[in-house]
Amino acid sequence: MIEVQALYKSFTSGRGKVTALEGLSFKVAKGENFIVAGKSGSGKTTLLNCIGGLETPDRGAIRCGGVDIHRLSRKALARFQREQVGFVFQQGNLLSYLTVSENLALPLALNGIDADDRKRRVRELLETIGLPDHGAALPWELSGGETQRVAFARAIAHAPAILLADEPTASLDSATGAQLVQLMVSLSRQRRCTLLVASHDPEVIRTADHQLLLKDGRKES
Ligand SMILES: Nc1ncnc2c1ncn2[C@@H]1O[C@H](COP(=O)(O)OP(=O)(O)O)[C@@H](O)[C@H]1O
Ligand SMILES: [Mg+2]
Repeated sequence: MIEVQALYKSFTSGRGKVTALEGLSFKVAKGENFIVAGKSGSGKTTLLNCIGGLETPDRGAIRCGGVDIHRLSRKALARFQREQVGFVFQQGNLLSYLTVSENLALPLALNGIDADDRKRRVRELLETIGLPDHGAALPWELSGGETQRVAFARAIAHAPAILLADEPTASLDSATGAQLVQLMVSLSRQRRCTLLVASHDPEVIRTADHQLLLKDGRKES
């Protein structure tokens, strides 16, 4: 379960102080899936980055499994990220000089999984995302939709408890994007993984069970 409590985050830039999150609170149960919706600038990325430990909030708490992640030591936070969190970004961010299989094996290697087990799991992941024959391909040989499916597979390879996807459909057409998020929703449900997907595409928003609508860093009710 993720519990976000009175979360505040602001940035200081050339424009002065910008408040990205303003006292945001909500709960997500284990295995639930949410779309984080809201216009550009509403705080979606900041929220996902705070939950994934990539940004530190100014105030408030994020508890994952009862632990306030921003009170962890640096080392414990890094371990939380490596073991418990999967991230999917807008553009996939696959490593361009590694094959699809090598990209998928990387988080497994980082989590200490041995070579034989890695091979087996990579094969299973490729089947799961419907790309069983793409293991030897390089990222530039994939379509946008295929790239994002591989990025998704990489994010769940180490069986994280939390999957965060920041506008993963931004570079896809609406139908392909909705298919991708449907795959994310059904697999996360199956694996009891908590899923948060930021999106402002109405087709995508419909695919999740729950919605968290942000406006100016607050929950719009
Ligand atoms: N690193 C940053 N420096 C300055 N301002 C930022 C930074 N990150 C986000 N912001 C500002 O915080 C607000 C929320 O941004 P963001 O979380 O990226 O929203 P969204 O993902 O919904 O578009 C925006 O006004 C944005 O300009
Ligand atoms: Mg964003």
